[in-house]
Amino acid sequence: MSDVSKKSSCDAYHLTSIFMKNYETISVEKRDGGVAVLTINRPGKLNALNSQVHLEGVAALDRLKADDAVRVLVITGAGEKSFVAGADISEFAGRTVAAQRNVFQERSLFNSLDAFPKPVIAMINGFCLGGGCELAMACDLRTASESARFGQPEINLGIIPGGGGTQRLTRLIGETKAMEMILTGDMIDAARAFNLGLVNEVFPAEQLEEKTFALAGKIAEKSPVALQMAKEAVKLAARSNLDEGLRREIDLFAVCFSTEDKEEGVAAFLEKRKPVFKGK
Ligand code: COA
Repeated sequence: MSDVSKKSSCDAYHLTSIFMKNYETISVEKRDGGVAVLTINRPGKLNALNSQVHLEGVAALDRLKADDAVRVLVITGAGEKSFVAGADISEFAGRTVAAQRNVFQERSLFNSLDAFPKPVIAMINGFCLGGGCELAMACDLRTASESARFGQPEINLGIIPGGGGTQRLTRLIGETKAMEMILTGDMIDAARAFNLGLVNEVFPAEQLEEKTFALAGKIAEKSPVALQMAKEAVKLAARSNLDEGLRREIDLFAVCFSTEDKEEGVAAFLEKRKPVFKGK
């Protein structure tokens, strides 16, 4: 048993392990072209999110955030059956109110993803349920295989979504459909998720990886500073009123004018060539 899993789930959750490299429940791979992949790796449990996944995931995000060679992150689940089938239900048994409140505070995977400054794509290869759907919604873009299934089934356990589901799902697909999914706990298929605006693209399973990495590679070629500013500005739209959002957009737009990448982008257009962004 690992040192982490010997501790209570709540203690483990709050350990700060920025320097952890040997993950047990996730894997991190850096690919060419500035793309990294974080895989939730508990296929025997359909990649359910236990405390150790959160702990290791947050540590990995800290490292990836600081790594200039990484421009875009893809998150997926190991195996062919599931992206993430939710929070690990076995950890709920006997958990106290106080312990549960602590679990979803600052250092959760959901919050760390939400604050992650680089674009993140959830590559959804199967069940995307409960905390899995919440994890995907904390990402910036979502691609899915035709066989993916989405849902917030917490109501069937006598609880509600607690990793941002009630808020993010409602903002993404609207109150009418979010209410239906959350009150019934029913799953929807990938085609419906696409029609509702929950996912960006749906691909045949065998093309999911290729198409997702093509998308990641395309984004990774852009200016990292501009990507970060764009991400912050778009996220603000759901979190502020229009006047505040428009004011902040002016600031974020101006920040782009402090970069060499902006000079490169403009020069490349005028010289009719492809820009090479260096992240400066
Ligand atoms: N937490 C803990 N374990 C989970 C899990 C979860 N959220 N989802 C699946 N597992 C485990 C199962 O207990 C099983 O483990 P076991 O082989 O040791 O018994 C294994 O993963 C495979 O799941 P299984 O239920 O046998 O697969 P299935 O194909 O019959 O059903 C699901 C797939 C997704 C429909 C079903 O696993 C399920 O309903 N999971 C819970 C989804 C959920 O409620 N998520 C929200 C949690 S808040």
